[in-house]
Amino acid sequence: MVSVFSVFLLLVSRLQTRVVCSSSSGPLAPALYIFGDSLVDSGNNNQLPTLARANFLPYGSNFSGGVTGRFTNGRTVFDVLAELLGLPYPPPYLSSRTSRVITGLNFASGACGIIPETGNFVGICLTLDDQVRLFERAVLNDLPTLFNSSDEFSSYLAKSILAFSIGNNDYILNYLNPTFYNTSETYEPQPFAKLLVPMLSQRLERLYNGGARKFVVFELGPIGCIPAIAKKSKHDGPCDEESNLLVSYFNQMLQSMLENMTSSLAGSMFVLGRANSLAYDAIINPSIHGLTETRKPCCTTVLDGILPCIPLLTPCPNADKYFFWDGYHFTDVISWLLASRCFNDTKVCSPVNIQDLVHI
Ligand SMILES: *[C@@H]1O[C@H](CO)[C@@H](O)[C@H](O)[C@H]1NC(C)=O
Ligand SMILES: *[C@@H]1O[C@H](CO)[C@@H](O)[C@H](O)[C@H]1NC(C)=O
Ligand SMILES: *[C@@H]1O[C@H](CO)[C@@H](O)[C@H](O)[C@H]1NC(C)=O
Ligand SMILES: *[C@@H]1O[C@H](CO)[C@@H](O)[C@H](O)[C@H]1NC(C)=O
Ligand SMILES: *[C@@H]1O[C@H](CO)[C@@H](O)[C@H](O)[C@H]1NC(C)=O
Repeated sequence: MVSVFSVFLLLVSRLQTRVVCSSSSGPLAPALYIFGDSLVDSGNNNQLPTLARANFLPYGSNFSGGVTGRFTNGRTVFDVLAELLGLPYPPPYLSSRTSRVITGLNFASGACGIIPETGNFVGICLTLDDQVRLFERAVLNDLPTLFNSSDEFSSYLAKSILAFSIGNNDYILNYLNPTFYNTSETYEPQPFAKLLVPMLSQRLERLYNGGARKFVVFELGPIGCIPAIAKKSKHDGPCDEESNLLVSYFNQMLQSMLENMTSSLAGSMFVLGRANSLAYDAIINPSIHGLTETRKPCCTTVLDGILPCIPLLTPCPNADKYFFWDGYHFTDVISWLLASRCFNDTKVCSPVNIQDLVHI
């Protein structure tokens, strides 16, 4: 059932590529590979024993492919990035392992994070380490046979874009969740960020050593504003600013780490996706971004959004006016906001935007 469906999705995305390509000279990059958590999972968790799943309506109610396991009403931020690059949506690796896809794959997995234990109380997910290993298997081991020479494969890999959105769960499900994890007893906020960022940089460096050159790494979001957290704490504004401060340590260190990697690893470019301040601005100043509701989720949830959308209930009719789809994830229109600005604007994706990254 699932594999028939993913074949269908592949066909849909191929069709979309053709439309994009017919108006230009082809995709801007040969492939987009996706790593991350539920913000960018496109169906890997459907194949895993976990409670962290979104393969039921109203998830997908505004997506061209319907219900897929995406944790939102429409596209993820990296789906939009794929569209802007002229590529099909990278299919979830776990439901496409037999296909020889060379335009990119999605390894992201809901509930997982940078720390291997993060999210393990809701089931099995692909940790960052798992995702990197699967990339090495699917791409570094299996794809070269499809190329005429190793030079050709190296050039393909160097031009491909690897996009990351990971680490939110190391805070939301781990550090801020003392029922299951003792990290907040063990680490002060800054040492915790200092634990996470090198764990991420080691994985990035390993991918660089395998031949990848172009990376886009998104910041952690303003997690204090997500309904599941904002409603829990006592505060005046729309957000729990203490939680926002926690992730700001990570984001600052991430920027410096990416700059260091670009300057020390020859031929590399590590782009920072400054999603945090843009998302925060949209939440605090809804009207500037054409939004009307940036606190409540669009779908119906219980426990202030701690649990996912209640299956099959009709969501709000105007999801495009809402920032949040459920208690954790943003709507399709926010995916468009973040990805299109990253594509276009060096204040959002820096030191180069994606349009420039593809020409390096
Ligand atoms: C999203 O889906 C809902 C329910 O199917 C529909 O009422 C709404 O018009 C759709 N919104 C957009 C922007 O497509
Ligand atoms: C391999 O070479 C053939 C013949 O020159 C060419 O048509 C094909 O596109 C090449 N394959 C790749 C993956 O570039
Ligand atoms: C935290 O838990 C780990 C095992 O999960 C244990 O080894 C460690 O001692 C604990 N640390 C503290 C400070 O409780
Ligand atoms: C980046 O490099 C600078 C200068 O060597 C160093 O002070 C800083 O700690 C590094 N940052 C990270 C996150 O590695
Ligand atoms: C790029 O920027 C221009 C103006 O800033 C905007 O009108 C256009 O829609 C943007 N393109 C994309 C793909 O975001």
